[in-house]
Amino acid sequence: MPQPHLRTVVVLAAGEGKRMKSTLPKVLHPLLGRTLLGHVLSAAAPLAADRTVVVVGHGADQVRAHLTEIAPDATPVLQAEQLGTGHAVRIALDAVPEGTGTVVVINGDVPLLRPETVGALVTAHEEAAAAATVLAAEVPDPTGLGRIVRDSDGRLEQIVEERDADAAQRAIREINAGIYAFDAVRLRDALGKLSTDNDQGEEYLTDVFGLLRSAGEPVAVHVAVDHVETLGCNDRVELASLRRLLRDRVNEAWMRTGVSLLDPVTTWIDVTVALDRDAVVDQNTQLRGATVVGAGALVGPDVTLVDTIVGEGASVVRSHAVGAEVGAGASVGPYAYLRPAARLADKAKVGTFVEVKNSEIGAGSKVPHLTYVGDATIGEQSNIGAASVFVNYDGVNKHRTVIGSHARTGADNMFVAPVEVGDGAYTAAGSVIVDDVPPGAMGVARARQRNIEGWVVMRRAGTAAAEAAQRARDAKGAQRAGDAKGAQRAGDAKGASEAAGTASDSEAMHGRAETVGGASGAGDTATE
Ligand code: UD1
Ligand code: MG
Repeated sequence: MPQPHLRTVVVLAAGEGKRMKSTLPKVLHPLLGRTLLGHVLSAAAPLAADRTVVVVGHGADQVRAHLTEIAPDATPVLQAEQLGTGHAVRIALDAVPEGTGTVVVINGDVPLLRPETVGALVTAHEEAAAAATVLAAEVPDPTGLGRIVRDSDGRLEQIVEERDADAAQRAIREINAGIYAFDAVRLRDALGKLSTDNDQGEEYLTDVFGLLRSAGEPVAVHVAVDHVETLGCNDRVELASLRRLLRDRVNEAWMRTGVSLLDPVTTWIDVTVALDRDAVVDQNTQLRGATVVGAGALVGPDVTLVDTIVGEGASVVRSHAVGAEVGAGASVGPYAYLRPAARLADKAKVGTFVEVKNSEIGAGSKVPHLTYVGDATIGEQSNIGAASVFVNYDGVNKHRTVIGSHARTGADNMFVAPVEVGDGAYTAAGSVIVDDVPPGAMGVARARQRNIEGWVVMRRAGTAAAEAAQRARDAKGAQRAGDAKGAQRAGDAKGASEAAGTASDSEAMHGRAETVGGASGAGDTATE
């Protein structure tokens, strides 16, 4: 068994990326869930390198901070002045103990690179015992890139930068992708011999190939199967086009694993997201970060989920969620906003124009319309009436509201936290609940309605409202005069409608709720 090769990965990330025109270093620009640097590091991850060095320069502090988050084992090495890719690798190797094995160098701005491709490059290099192997690709437009110059036998002769190339070399469409494998010992030796005799006056890593070749060392070219993987990113237009390419790659992979994407072109799934079989993603949907979508769940259209877990068979329609959990079979939206730590248990419902933050909504419980639920715990099978606010903030501190199981709260309630509504309790519509409501009680907290008869006719005489009121009075008068029996009926109807609208104490409410068949009982929100 041959000894496994010691492997060192060097990522070049010191450049400014001038054409990005950004205060953010180029390698920190995000692309579907990772930074450019993050993509490169994860393409190299399966190599299981013994050490990883990242050469930092422009925005070094920001890049270091990012590395601490995403790759704490990587060693950042400062290249204070960007004197060329050869110089950068020299500095990187100076920072690690001298050793044998393979050094894999990757430009920090090739985010579409696949782990399989890096793996194939390194395997080919190690099996051939080459001194250096470059990843090359045949591209439709080689402008700006280093060209692979081969001899008459088709073997690599040198790599020439476009600005140093002659007309014949510029016509070559086989380019250097900026990803290489080197034998550590021979690389160190060659780096010591680099000159700056070129158009940019820089130490070119690519010159290592010509030097090794002249010394009779075996150098090789590994051609990438798909040139798209080798695309670099120099400005925001290129970044956008890489994003589209990566979107298509990610979407295709999910469809092949059994996820339906109804409109892949408007579906943007971060590489960090997971979806289960038979999930359906409808158009205009963004799934970001650590989002997970369970089997058979329906997400979209017009949904953004960030770090959100959607359970099996749940549905989320035209909504925005960040750091939320949606239980199995639960339903969200249209037009809901789930904020961090919004947790919906199985079969819970958060409906239209509802915002939920840091709250648990128990199994089968519903918050159907126009409501803010903040810092609350709602038990199982409860219903929250429309247009309610969980008043969680006293201007200084946040407080919790607890609603029990099988509770039914009236429409237009304010729950002034801290407050508790017990199991099986009801509250009346329009109540401001400041005191606990015991289990099974009806909480009523609102003023009694008072009608001032004839007010409009007296105080707004001559208006259309006054005229309408007068006509209604006259019609009623005529009816009364005409039919005593009819008058009796009209009186009954009036009584019933008053009962429906004015229930203001629990005793009266219970009686009247019966009278009107429950449809207008104050505790029944009629908003399920
Ligand atoms: C380089 C290659 C070119 C190849 C192309 C692929 C050289 C001389 N040329 O050209 O053959 O086709 O990549 O994209 O290598 N960097 C440093 N320190 C430096 C200079 C660069 O860390 O002093 C980093 C940059 O941040 C970048 C990478 O090295 O991530 C490549 O540098 P860049 O200036 O983009 O090289 P290219 O001109 O694109
Ligand atoms: Mg470049």
